[in-house]
Order: sequence, then C-alpha cells, then structure tokens
Amino acid sequence: MFEIKDKVAIVTGGAGGIGKATVEAILAKGGLPVIADWDENLGKKTAEELNVPFFKVDVSNEEQVKNVVEETVKLYGHLDIIVNNAGICPAKLFHEYTTEEYRHIIGVNQDGVVWGCKYAINEFLKQGTPGAIVNVSSMMGIISNPYTPFYSTTKFGLRGLTKSIAIAYGRQGIRANTIHPGHVDTAIGGKGCGEEAYKYDCEHTPVGRTGVPEEIAHAIIFTIENEFLTGTEIIVDGGWTIQ
Ligand SMILES: NC(=O)c1ccc[n+]([C@@H]2O[C@H](COP(=O)([O-])OP(=O)(O)OC[C@H]3O[C@@H](n4cnc5c(N)ncnc54)[C@H](O)[C@@H]3O)[C@@H](O)[C@H]2O)c1
Repeated sequence: MFEIKDKVAIVTGGAGGIGKATVEAILAKGGLPVIADWDENLGKKTAEELNVPFFKVDVSNEEQVKNVVEETVKLYGHLDIIVNNAGICPAKLFHEYTTEEYRHIIGVNQDGVVWGCKYAINEFLKQGTPGAIVNVSSMMGIISNPYTPFYSTTKFGLRGLTKSIAIAYGRQGIRANTIHPGHVDTAIGGKGCGEEAYKYDCEHTPVGRTGVPEEIAHAIIFTIENEFLTGTEIIVDGGWTIQ
C-alpha cells in the first residue's frame, strides 16, 4: 500500500472539477497536495478554501511545469505523486479546426502530460523514492465521436505514454496509470455542457446519470494507493463505453 499520508502531490488543473475533488481526496488521506492551474482567480480561491499552495502554470509550457516541480520540492523537500489532470475539450468536426487550434489541444492535453511526467520522474529518480503518476485521459481515449478528433488523439496517446513509463520505471518503484472518466459534472462535462447535452448524456449512460468529480477522484486515489497497479486503464463512465 502506497500511503498518501505526508506524501506531496502536484495536481494539475486542481482549481476546479475533477482536479479539485482530487486535491480534497488527497487532503482527506493526510497528503500534501499542490494546485497547479492556469486559472489564477479560481486557483487562488480554491487554494484559500482548502488551505493548500497554488502555482499558476500553463501545463503546455515546459519551463513552467519544470518550475512548479522545483518550487514544490523547495516548499516540501520532496515530490511523491503527480496527477496530470489539466485538460481542455473543444468540440467540432475535424475539418473545422485551424492548425493553431489543433496545436493548442495537443499542447495542453498531451505536451502538458509529457512535461508533468518528465519532471516528476526526474525528481523521483533523483530522490531514489517511489512515485505515483496518474494521467487523466477520458472515455474518448477508449472510443471516439465525430466532434473530438484531437481531444481523442491526445487522450488515446496518454495510454501509450503511460504504459511505456510503467514498463520503463516499474523496478524503481515508479508507477503510472490512466483514468478514463465518462460524462462528469464539471465546467467541461456533464451538467456543464448545457441542458440538452446533459439530458442526452444521462439517457445514454447505463447507470442513468452523469458522474460527479468525487467518483473520479476515488479511482485516482485507488491507483495511487495500490502498489501492484501500473500501466493500467481504469474506465469510470457509468457504463458508457460498454455499449
Ligand atoms: N468532465 C468530464 O466529463 C470529463 C470526461 C472525460 C475526461 N475528462 C478529463 O478530466 C480532466 C479534468 O477536467 P474537468 O472535467 O475537471 O474540467 P474543468 O474544466 O472543471 O477542470 C480543468 C482544470 O484544468 C485547468 N486547465 C485547463 N487548461 C490548463 C492549462 N493549459 N494549464 C493549467 N491548467 C489548465 C482549468 O483551469 C481547470 O481548473 C481533463 O483532462 C478532462 O479532459 C473530463
């Protein structure tokens, strides 16, 4: 069992939604979470509410991610966990995207996770201590739909990246897993998608409703704690992808 108590955890996108629920879940286990988010207003508000440190960071920027890892280690002396959760989900058809929009999605959802893994792993190796990485993908990293071509590109990509890391560093005690949420009530999913989409999502999810951020955080905690779990994919989607 990888005890979360006194472990230091960076949660990207921790200001709201699934990230905030993850910060709360880590706190409830006695861990020391740090919020890394590009939304300064929400980040500061959440950090104040939960009494945790906040770093303003755009995860698509390698230098900023490197800094947040360095600042976290300066603050607490070590790093044990990173939850690469920050993500964006624009929705339109493939031919409607500009090159800049495409690069932006890749930058946040894929590069952002690569930088998070890179600097966390470097720190784990330097410390010589075990580490847990959780990369938040999506059910759109398992299946797809016409409106999320590049979101799916990134979310499928995280599976391969995570498995490669899991194989490469397993013997050093570094584990990496992906979580694949279904429709969850946040700013970008579930109730946050408008009344019509919300109704559709509830009707088409086998459990008859959308999820709540705490249900995803619960799975994230499970992958952190279970030391025999690495390179795996946990789908938490109320059954959406089994249809
Ligand atoms: N909500 C859903 O239905 C759903 C479904 C599947 C997957 N997910 C995934 O879950 C993760 C969390 O999403 P959420 O639903 O909680 O959404 P959210 O919008 O509530 O939270 C995302 C957080 O990430 C932050 N963020 C976005 N871009 C960033 C960047 N470049 N740098 C730093 N922070 C950034 C936002 O400010 C926000 O606080 C995302 O990776 C998303 O793709 C969500």
